Amino acid sequence: MGRGFPEGFRWGTATASYQIEGAATEDGRGPSIWDTFSHTPGKVLHGDTGDVAVDHYHRLEEDLGHLAALGVGGYRFSVAWPRIQPTGSGPANQKGLDFYSRLVDGLLERGIAPVATLYHWDLPQALEDAGGWPERATAGRFEEYAALVVGALGDRVEVWTTFNEPWCTAYLGYASGIHAPGRTEPAAALAAVHHLNLAHGLAGRVIRSLAPSAALSVTLNVHLLRPASDAPADVDAVRRADGLANRVFLGPMLAGAYPEDVLADAAAVTDWSFVKDGDAASAHVPLDNLGVNYYTPAVVRGWDGASPRVMADGHGDSAASPWVGADDVEFLPQPELPRTSMGWPVDATGMTELLLRLHRDHPGLPLVVTENGAAYPDPVGADGVVHDADRIEYLRTHLDAVGRAIDEGADVRGYYAWSLMDNFEWSYGYDRRFGLLRVDPQTLERSWKDSAHWFAEVARTNRLP
Ligand code: FCB
Repeated sequence: MGRGFPEGFRWGTATASYQIEGAATEDGRGPSIWDTFSHTPGKVLHGDTGDVAVDHYHRLEEDLGHLAALGVGGYRFSVAWPRIQPTGSGPANQKGLDFYSRLVDGLLERGIAPVATLYHWDLPQALEDAGGWPERATAGRFEEYAALVVGALGDRVEVWTTFNEPWCTAYLGYASGIHAPGRTEPAAALAAVHHLNLAHGLAGRVIRSLAPSAALSVTLNVHLLRPASDAPADVDAVRRADGLANRVFLGPMLAGAYPEDVLADAAAVTDWSFVKDGDAASAHVPLDNLGVNYYTPAVVRGWDGASPRVMADGHGDSAASPWVGADDVEFLPQPELPRTSMGWPVDATGMTELLLRLHRDHPGLPLVVTENGAAYPDPVGADGVVHDADRIEYLRTHLDAVGRAIDEGADVRGYYAWSLMDNFEWSYGYDRRFGLLRVDPQTLERSWKDSAHWFAEVARTNRLP
């Protein structure tokens, strides 16, 4: 018998609006920064865009059928802000709300808990034109948007998640520029961090008041950072990178304050004057759980400033670094580890370590793995099926690692595989496939990979086979 999971452990799959929906100009949807970015030559591999994506908008019923057949207890999706407010402010576009209402009801009819993320990176373009996340006003816009969505869907949604990976929004969008809107302005990235924290708190209160029986969460890609050695410079590299990537969000969101060392580390980049009195405190709203996305660990060391800086951080090869305020940190390539098609090193022990660290640092806060998974080449076999033994092995070892963290005391309540189906993988377009379900690039037809059958069995039996 394989490893079992606690009773009630929630099995699910995850997606995001821009990555799957398509129908980019239908039913009143306005443009988002990802529409603009993907239509800008050179930004996305092969010039791919989310115009059609995997056409989930039109294949909603079919996709609900796959979720039901997988037997998952939860489905994590995101709401496209530009479907609700095409220009980022003003009244709700009813057709946009209707789509998510159909999705939520379709899930509930099938006994699947809706887990909704308000923001998975598709900012209305009009708000970016007004300055984007580095502008304080964007936080207020987000609060209004949250009220429209939560007002309409309320506690039919089991879990409301404010943001997915605000680290990516701020640092990949505004510092390294490999994500939309593609700006490379380090100080603006830190202002974005702050306004995301603020917006999280504002929207969190909206969720509490409009959907009192729903759970409140946020999903962070908490980076698991290991020092290259126990030399003080390497240990300090971990502290810095952890501060700018993890504690800069965890501090305000979970404790209502920015860590002093983080403010000091970034002092050469910004004076933090965008942080007004009371802001950090208002970013703090007690959460029902913390969503954690884990894919790969990182090994860091202090950079001597003389030799060329090693930056194998897996976040693209932009000349600009996302590691604002941690310019003296190097990311080592970890050649001893196997890699996925993303080039990300595979090391499941990082999953256990990360969950235990979060459990230790934030006792009493339940954790949910809201994303984990792998891209592999996925050739179609002679029988027409993708036999993705590599993905099954990735999932199996990482789930075993989640189980180990639970054994050692971490309060982990669920696991959402990334992703339900192949989709638009941001700057890699359709070239990188994470799905349990294959989506034929030409016909968009869905078919189950071996991993989908495997995951369905895990969900059904609540244990690893
Ligand atoms: C995460 C994103 C998700 C997906 C995976 C592979 O950073 O949240 O949308 O792209 O990576």
